[in-house]
Parts: sequence; C-alpha cells; structure tokens
Amino acid sequence: MSGDHLGLLHKELPNMEIVILDDADTIGQVAAEEICVLLGSKPDAVLGLATGSSPLSIYDHLAARHAAGEVTFARAQAFTLDEYVGLGPDHPERYRNVIDRSFTSLVDLPPGAVHSPDGLAADIPAACAAYERAIAEAGGVDLQILGIGTDGHIGFNEPGSSLASRTRIKTLTRATRSDNARFFKGDLDSVPTHCLTQGLATIMAARHVVLVATGPGKALAVQELVEGPVSAMWPATVLQHHPHVSVLLDESAASRLQLADYYRETYRGKPPWQGL
Ligand code: F6R
Repeated sequence: MSGDHLGLLHKELPNMEIVILDDADTIGQVAAEEICVLLGSKPDAVLGLATGSSPLSIYDHLAARHAAGEVTFARAQAFTLDEYVGLGPDHPERYRNVIDRSFTSLVDLPPGAVHSPDGLAADIPAACAAYERAIAEAGGVDLQILGIGTDGHIGFNEPGSSLASRTRIKTLTRATRSDNARFFKGDLDSVPTHCLTQGLATIMAARHVVLVATGPGKALAVQELVEGPVSAMWPATVLQHHPHVSVLLDESAASRLQLADYYRETYRGKPPWQGL
C-alpha cells in the first residue's frame, strides 16, 4: 500500500492512536514536537492545558525549545481545564498559579492569553458560562493536553459525569482528593472539595486531544479508556467518540492493554511525516 494510502488511514480518518513509548521524557518530546508543528502552521493556535504531573515533561520540552528559539507562543492562546474552588489568588496549588509556574511564565504567551475558570467567582454558573463563551470566541481549542485520573476522570469530570457536560462545578471524589493530597503536604483536609471543570462535551470539541499517562497506577484507567465500553463510570471513555485522539503511554501505563503489540506495530509502521 502506498504512503498516501497510509496517510489517509492514519491521519484523515477518525482515529484513536495508542503510542507506547519508553518513558515520560520521550512522551514529552513527542507531544512537544506535535505542538511545535501546530504552532509552525498556525501561530495563533489555541492550546488546552492540563495541570498535574502527567504533562510536566511536555511543558519542560516546550520551554526548552522556546528558550532555544525554536518556537514562539506570541500569537497563541491557552485555556486551562479546571480550577479548585476557593483557593486564594496566591495559593501555590491554585491551578492558575501551578500552570504559570510550570509552563506559561516560561514561554512568550502574551499577558491575557492564558485563561482559566474562576474558582473564586461569586456567581459560579455565570463564570462557567463565561468560560465556555471565551473558548468559543477564541475559535475553539486546537490541541488539548490531558492527563487521566486513576478513577478515569479527564479534567475533573469524575465518574458519573454527563457525557454531554459543559464547564460547571463538580464535587471531587475522595479518590481524587487523596491522589492530589501529595500537592498539599499529604493533608487530605487541605485539598478542596469542589472544582470548576470543562465538561466532557467541552473537551470533546477540541480538534486534537493528546492524553498522557505514565506509571502502573494509571493502567486500569488506560485499559478502560482504550479497550473498555463507553460509560460515564469511566469518563475518559467518551474519547472513543472523538475523531482525533493520541494516547501517549509508558510501558507500565500500557501494561493492561490487550492489543499492546498491535498498537506498537501500528506506530512503528507510520510514515515519518505523519506526526500524531
Ligand atoms: C488536571 C486535570 C486532571 C489530571 C489528572 C491526572 O488539570 O485535569 O484530570 O490530569 O488528575 O493527574 P496527574 O497527571 O497528576 O496524575
């Protein structure tokens, strides 16, 4: 089969691609390359940013490539996925501060180009509606970076979330709060109980979704995401309906996948020009 036919198969038809790589650093490198290519062809691209540990290596690679003069974000915009409710403006774990520290302050995104849900808003429903409007007015998200919770959440869409949900307030599960207690000196009581999060339908509207998972703790959620039935009980499974998803995994996060060898073979057989 010719390269052109392969291109059609992999890029232009709806696809969830599973890419199993050696380690978090390689995952960061591959995702950062995709983002640099996007910004090269669309300098005013809209990026969707996740917080948490999973995307850190992507941000490190992007910051390094920016410092090396290889990529500019000067015309780009960014929207974060979610925010805790009630953490003060200077709280180090407020997601807006976390993303500034780990990424946006390290590149040349202009002031005002980074948007996040307002977890301190007096009128929460109005703030959520304003966030949806802002994403739409920016032209929608071109590339959305995602992590995945051990309970299968994306953004903070916990199990039972409506597959049609939009930005709204959610109650965090005890599992998510205890996963995140590591950022709050191990103190579960300091982890907020509520958050604002883009909904599953909001995330599904992004044109390309790049989901990153590493470590054995994510293996079950990844198995459900890729090979399980679509269900609100594993919210990430809604991505099986998305036309362009790249799932970047290390070996341990991929360890429960029944078709892991097939995914490896498919990725190895891709033409080099294809990207994700
Ligand atoms: C963070 C977010 C969450 C995390 C998920 C995984 O903005 O939306 O869905 O991506 O909880 O977190 P880590 O990457 O810390 O394991």
